[in-house]
Amino acid sequence: MKAFAPRAFLTLVSLAATQLVLGSALEPRTRLLMDLGWKFHLGNEWGIGQSLAKAGTGYGPASETFSDTNWRTVDLPHDWAVELPFDPKADGAHGFRAVGAGFPENSIGWYRRTFELSKADVDGRIWLEFDGVFRDCTIFVNGWFVGHHEGGYNGFRYDITDVTKAGGKNVLAVRVDASQFEGWFYEGAGIYRHVWLVKTAPLAIAPDGVFVYSRFPNNVPVGPAEIHVEALLENADRAPADATVTWEIFDPLGQPLATASQSGRIGGAAALDLRQTTAVVAPQLWSPESPTLYTLVTQVNRGGQTVDRIQTEFGIRTVAFDAAKGFLLNGKTYELKGTCNHQDHAGVGSALPDQLQYFRIAQLKKMGSNAYRTAHNPPTPELLQACDRLGMLVMDENRLLGSDALNVTRWEEQIRRDRNHPSVAIWSLANEEFTVQSTPAGGRVAATMQAFVKGLDPTRPVTYNAPLGNEFDGVNEVIEVRGWSYHIGVENMDAYHAAHPQQPNVGSEQGSTVSTRGIYADDKVRGYVSAYDEHGLSWSNTAEEWWSFFDPRPWLSGGFVWTGFDYRGEPTPYGWPCINSHFGILDTCGFPKDNFWYYQSWWTNQPVLHLLPHWNWSGREGHLIDVRALSNCDEVELYLNGRSLGRQHMNRDSELKWKVPYAPGTLAAKGYQAGQLVTEAKVETTGKPAQVRLVASRTELAPDGEDCSVVAVSVLDERGRVVPDAANSIAFDLAGAGRIVGVGNGDPSSHEPDVYVTNPTFRTVPVGGWRWKKVADTHAANLPEEGATYDDDAWDQADVTAEVGALGPMEKGVFRSHFTVTAQDLAAPGVELWFKKIEGDGSVYLNGQKIGPGGDARAASAYDVKALLHPGENTVAVALTNWGTNAGISQGVLLRYFENPAPVAWRRSVFNGLAEIIVRTGRESGAITLTASSEGLRPATLSLQVAPSGAPVALR
Ligand code: GAL
Repeated sequence: MKAFAPRAFLTLVSLAATQLVLGSALEPRTRLLMDLGWKFHLGNEWGIGQSLAKAGTGYGPASETFSDTNWRTVDLPHDWAVELPFDPKADGAHGFRAVGAGFPENSIGWYRRTFELSKADVDGRIWLEFDGVFRDCTIFVNGWFVGHHEGGYNGFRYDITDVTKAGGKNVLAVRVDASQFEGWFYEGAGIYRHVWLVKTAPLAIAPDGVFVYSRFPNNVPVGPAEIHVEALLENADRAPADATVTWEIFDPLGQPLATASQSGRIGGAAALDLRQTTAVVAPQLWSPESPTLYTLVTQVNRGGQTVDRIQTEFGIRTVAFDAAKGFLLNGKTYELKGTCNHQDHAGVGSALPDQLQYFRIAQLKKMGSNAYRTAHNPPTPELLQACDRLGMLVMDENRLLGSDALNVTRWEEQIRRDRNHPSVAIWSLANEEFTVQSTPAGGRVAATMQAFVKGLDPTRPVTYNAPLGNEFDGVNEVIEVRGWSYHIGVENMDAYHAAHPQQPNVGSEQGSTVSTRGIYADDKVRGYVSAYDEHGLSWSNTAEEWWSFFDPRPWLSGGFVWTGFDYRGEPTPYGWPCINSHFGILDTCGFPKDNFWYYQSWWTNQPVLHLLPHWNWSGREGHLIDVRALSNCDEVELYLNGRSLGRQHMNRDSELKWKVPYAPGTLAAKGYQAGQLVTEAKVETTGKPAQVRLVASRTELAPDGEDCSVVAVSVLDERGRVVPDAANSIAFDLAGAGRIVGVGNGDPSSHEPDVYVTNPTFRTVPVGGWRWKKVADTHAANLPEEGATYDDDAWDQADVTAEVGALGPMEKGVFRSHFTVTAQDLAAPGVELWFKKIEGDGSVYLNGQKIGPGGDARAASAYDVKALLHPGENTVAVALTNWGTNAGISQGVLLRYFENPAPVAWRRSVFNGLAEIIVRTGRESGAITLTASSEGLRPATLSLQVAPSGAPVALR
């Protein structure tokens, strides 16, 4: 009997801003995705928002009562850096976006949202989990400070139980400060990974408290697999408790396979680690070619009741690095065909919908890649999930070398979070720590970090990406697996290997070839590099150079190309106007450059034959064109317009070259293996751009607000061939159950917008004519002076635009003003009453109704008043007591009438014939119709279906 449908367990539970969360009594643990319905504001009007004097008094947006009604609504993941303009004065390594220390006005963002808790939640613990925010951030719940986190790449979480309101609305505010960079590459800004609300019983599994790994005698996967299971429990109750943990293993079809259990007594406010061993008799081993996943269900029982349950996907496999044989997967030599990657993508910056991680991994797999290095930081959890499920080994990299307390804590969190993923094959301590890597201190720090890994994960080796040659001092001396960052050549690698024959090796960073998709001559002005495999920089090597060196040396274990995808920033070898790197084998959209087929030739067993360049060289008739064939065929014969240009023999790990006098028409090739024709390829001279084509990566999507499709846009000639130099500007229109979240084209020098956002705009009208009067007690109930009607004609006039308010020390008073609004004013989508400064203890009333507390002198106060205003005369009254030096209303009061946002018109040019649109679903089912049009071209229309049945393989 089938115990459960494994994927069904993973159903996405998403929490809309307005959605009421029902009691959690039935489920021992709930994990709610909080991606949708945030309010966002870019700007630093409110300082740190955190009161250092008194508890629970976060001010400005940190305050519970702050009105964010008119802020822009955003969904996570969100990267505001990608919304900013390019600026030649900005940091080029970060992609010339106007963010960072030089742009303080663009570097602080506030996010707010509310969430409801049920009455039943009072019995449990409530956690907030952030998977990653760039960069420093401060978290407030209901005006309480709950945490400050620095560092843009680690997840973090807070137990917020004490400051939440069970059975009511709770306000979450996050101040994000992206002023400081961490890396030398594009890093984004904002809450660019998921946020979760987690509810558990008081006695529950600790965060990342489940660990499962498999073992075989001598690390050779023959016979039954020994499965080690661990659960770290935490008891938030003061009283001790008896608990039993049961672990159940299910096979890929959901059949129960094995169980284990362990009981223990856990102290009050204490933790308890329970461990057991069980077995899977005939395991199906995990590998990139066969990514078989088992499921572990860890259940905690207390007094006969299930108080917690967590499901963990895992794989059974062995990994090892051998000094002579190289990397071993499941006991056999396995060449790593890897890429290093940063985390951004065209259109969306660093805020990738989960499906985009799957799209990227799938693109790399098409090339024959089997390994991925998370350069130079802990990855997004969903990336690892994609690697587990699609089959991709991972080098999981830490950010900085350091054995200081903070680094070690981060390192521990990373290992605990990632160690159940079968894809993760090796940990990387850090990347290229030039200053310290060869020093005794560098060696000691690395040794400490490496030893630390062993306490948390007995199954995986550790490496470090060393940009060193035949040098052993420092980190290399202590590291288990010597990582090679460039420094190719017999003189370095072979000599090192001869001198240290016991140390395994890996090509942790290789290549760094630069090329631009569809470009066949360098162009410094436009910032393009030719796509022939010729561009090694001073420290780097072409694809053929490095791979033909590594391939015949199994002890090097294969390696990781810098990089799989182009990324924003590091526009090497150029500067402005180039805004992204040229290192990718694929561009920022995931469109292959020619080197893709070099790797595909030598990294797969399927017959590959690819010709370059394109064959549109009008005006160059008779000129010799450098033609290359990328192929794994033994022989390739080339033809121009049917005439043979000769057959050439292909050397392993190489490419073939011809010089061909240009004549328009068809350049074709035939590929032979063992004398047999196995594949053919051609490039044709195309006609002029005539039509647009749209092709979606996925056409059936889920209405979960998260799903996405990557749509390739191409410009074709009349006969349906991609025009390889087309640059038409295309307008996109989307109707129905989704929206466009980003557009790109892979052009490293394009300054066109990746996203089109409309930030709120408003017109202001000063609120004047204020009068005031001292009163005996501003806290008295129903003070008539606060009412809608009260004769204040004889009161003193108050200048609310003065630097300080009118109230002296210990004075109490009421300030009033009458103002007129029209029906037309009230047609605005939002109206705010905005005080630059209200100082003192008291309240604000509009037409006799209290609209909030008196505000906070440290920040402007905005009140959402649209619903309370009426055409004609309206009255505002502010009652204040001065417990300090100054109080009153000062520096101006305004009405802000918000304007309807202008409709967004998405567009993007194709670059060398191609562009990309990323479409994200909402929570509605229905059709999405996407239209792409361009002057003089036949438009294209694409239909996507959004339906519950179209749910993707659940992503979590
Ligand atoms: C490496 C470095 C990478 C990237 C690359 C460019 O040295 O680790 O982050 O900068 O160079 O070639």
